[in-house]
Amino acid sequence: KATKREHWSGQTGFLLAAIGSAVGLGNIWRFPGVAYENGGGAFLIPYLVALLTAGIPILFLDYALGHRYQGSAPTVFRRLFKGGEALGWFQVAISFVIMCYYGVILAWAMSFTVFSVTEAWGEDPTAFFTGTYLELAPEPGLSLDIVGHLLLPLLLAWLVVLVVMVLGVQSGVERANKWFLPLLVILFAILVVRALFLDGAMEGLNALFTPDFSQLTNTDVWLAAYSQIFFSLSIAFGIMITYSSYLKRKSDLTTTGLVAGFANSSFEILAGIGVFATLGFMAAQSGVGVNELEGLTGPILSFVTFPQIISMMPGGPIFGVLFFGSLVLAGFTSMISISQVVVAALQEKFAIGRAAASALVVGVCGTISILLFATTTGLYTLDTVDKYINEIGIITSAIVMTLVVAWGVRKLPTLRAHLNRVSAFQIGVWWHWLIAVVVPAMLIIMLGSTGYSLLVDGYAGYPTWYLNLMGWGVVGFAIVFAVVFALIPGRRGRAEEDAAFD
Ligand code: PHE
Ligand code: NA
Repeated sequence: KATKREHWSGQTGFLLAAIGSAVGLGNIWRFPGVAYENGGGAFLIPYLVALLTAGIPILFLDYALGHRYQGSAPTVFRRLFKGGEALGWFQVAISFVIMCYYGVILAWAMSFTVFSVTEAWGEDPTAFFTGTYLELAPEPGLSLDIVGHLLLPLLLAWLVVLVVMVLGVQSGVERANKWFLPLLVILFAILVVRALFLDGAMEGLNALFTPDFSQLTNTDVWLAAYSQIFFSLSIAFGIMITYSSYLKRKSDLTTTGLVAGFANSSFEILAGIGVFATLGFMAAQSGVGVNELEGLTGPILSFVTFPQIISMMPGGPIFGVLFFGSLVLAGFTSMISISQVVVAALQEKFAIGRAAASALVVGVCGTISILLFATTTGLYTLDTVDKYINEIGIITSAIVMTLVVAWGVRKLPTLRAHLNRVSAFQIGVWWHWLIAVVVPAMLIIMLGSTGYSLLVDGYAGYPTWYLNLMGWGVVGFAIVFAVVFALIPGRRGRAEEDAAFD
């Protein structure tokens, strides 16, 4: 049974969902620290260049693919070329992997929203997060000791994901974004304003924005900018392909892409301001310079440094609820976008209903999330999987996708014509050059340099067997998964439908 494709209620619904997907944990806990470490105010130059030369152009490519070929990633690439289905399933596998650990972070953020009120971390937030809360083992490994009190928030997070998925594109995904995204903007705006009035806020902002122009000649800084843009826009692993496939035929793709891209970057800058104003306060309270602070990115920034600050602050609990509530909302709208990639792909391949596909995906991912990430070694595993799937998996997917579309099937003129036919903002041949040459070149350099350093130096001092298993192994799993799923025969009638697309 070929069911009729679901649709957004209109362009605004899609735009909200696209922004909801892009604005995530990366904006709040990744961008501020990355900008600070890579030249501060001067980082905005490579960042903007990366946005305009890679981020927005690939966003357009994703939109064009999903909208023209009307399907989840495997369907789109199958319609694009013979054997393409495997590339689609590779993107689904990446989404699946990310989904499994993203849910865990969401669960932590939910717990910490409550802890902000109870101040559960007491005198020592560092010991609290890794000790009392995660019961982290001293050495990385694969322990099967499940940390009991992590289960309740985790199950709750999965339950909400399940409900949204089962409700579908319009009543689930669109509605969730319609409520969560504005709420996020309000909570976060209050947080930023409050942060700006803290003692030391200005020192924090100076630390973040004082430009170090000498960094502009450092290639690592440029690589960091491109990598931040890729992660931040959720491009090149199926999300935007899937979301744009639910747009009606007459939809403005490029204008929407520009708005989504700039909205995401604006939220990043806003988060930079909020986070560094707050760090400035912490530095002032501790009588040190901002440059002497530690724990400025990732889970440690959110789950150790922020609790420390919250404890120092009058009205700390309110600030904590604003901060962790923002993490929950931002993470949640991203989470449902990744889940939709996997659910839609299974639905289309096997002609199963939305509820069945959602239950299957959430059930499997939920189980994996408990066995791998809710254990006493979960934090190490999460950290490793995250590093390799993003910096090797997504980048590889983006390289293959751009090269195949540009040089393999030579579809850029078709896709550009498609974008221009439906959109107000017209794109020129410059887009071909960016997708065919500039983006893949940049990505190959990135992959080469990260791959080399991971092979030679490993990562975070973890043992080699462990990195081979949970880092390279997970990337290998995504490849095997892609090939296997592409080979499994799908529902009948697909070939006739595919024939309608050129
Ligand atoms: N773009 C999101 C962010 O900036 C990250 C994300 C990752 C979203 C994976 C969806 C899937 O945080
Ligand atoms: Na983002």
